[in-house]
Amino acid sequence: MKTIFSGIQPSGTLTLGNYIGAMKHFTEMQEDNNCYFCIVDEHAITVPQDRLALRNNIRSLASLYLASGIDPEKSTLFIQSEVSAHTQLGWMLQCVSYIGELERMTQFKEKSAGGEKEGVSAGLLTYPPLMASDILLYKTDIVPVGDDQKQHLELTRNLAQRFNNKFNDIFTVPEVSIPKEGARIMSLQDPTKKMSKSDENQKAFISMLDDEKKILKKIKSAVTDSDGIVKYDKEHKPGVSNLLTIESACSGLSINELEQKYEGKGYGDFKQGVAEAVINILKPIQERYKTLIDSEELDNILDTGAEKASFEANKMLRKAKKAMGLGRVKKK
Ligand code: TYM
Repeated sequence: MKTIFSGIQPSGTLTLGNYIGAMKHFTEMQEDNNCYFCIVDEHAITVPQDRLALRNNIRSLASLYLASGIDPEKSTLFIQSEVSAHTQLGWMLQCVSYIGELERMTQFKEKSAGGEKEGVSAGLLTYPPLMASDILLYKTDIVPVGDDQKQHLELTRNLAQRFNNKFNDIFTVPEVSIPKEGARIMSLQDPTKKMSKSDENQKAFISMLDDEKKILKKIKSAVTDSDGIVKYDKEHKPGVSNLLTIESACSGLSINELEQKYEGKGYGDFKQGVAEAVINILKPIQERYKTLIDSEELDNILDTGAEKASFEANKMLRKAKKAMGLGRVKKK
């Protein structure tokens, strides 16, 4: 049995990209692994957040995890800020990270680009050691993520190895697991850009809570090309290829099967089919979501999750403190 850890930021309603690239695989993995799934609220505050919106987003994300199939009997679901070992080990790992390697992170460069230096939080720079802490606290073997987290995972591996060599060999060096298909779902309005929940253009992404009408409208207005042929060609037909990837991930049909399905048909039929596949996946999740969001059951699950996670995390934190020489050894 392997230990799996992954996290999602509660920084807005999840997109179809988050679902296809990450969440969808979590539910598959929980069957025969020891899984931890985290709502990483301390990562979300690296950029400004509205207090009430953040609170809502945390609860909403917890409900989405469960509604999409995370089973609290099989997996540990918890909120990062409710397990204080994360920031504690995060600080210690900041002290073994180099500023240069943190400044090289693409996500830091993108999020801090163009901004005034005063407006960019120090947390945005030191985000990766906190992410490493999330992962290393649980002796994680595998981290399932989308393509954009690959670099952070490489840094996590480097930090684990550096710590093990310098202090004591306590951390498991985790492997990354990136899906073969759907690891980077693209914007519906600009298929050369990643689909992102922070996109200013609402038409660029499908939220997991969008209703049927909205989904259909957004997919109908997705950018394609003027060929009129439904064929996968990422380089020359990025819009059509992205929609094919989405339908394939939602329907379970292969890209080949979908190309056959739409042979001789136009983009109107194609987009209708893509929208139906997305609705079929999201509708049952949305129904379960509604029953969970305001329930006491949700609180109970998160309480139990935080307790279980704290127990494991504190064991590793104690080892890490000992390895670094923090605290003291009591005289009898
Ligand atoms: P976040 O919250 O940005 O995204 C959550 C997960 O969704 C994936 N993802 C995508 N996959 C496919 N297509 C897209 N357009 C797309 N957009 C996002 C992400 O790759 C991710 O797997 N730093 C992380 C959160 C985190 C974490 C961790 C993850 C904190 N600690 C420990 C794993 C382990 C993040 O910002 O993800």
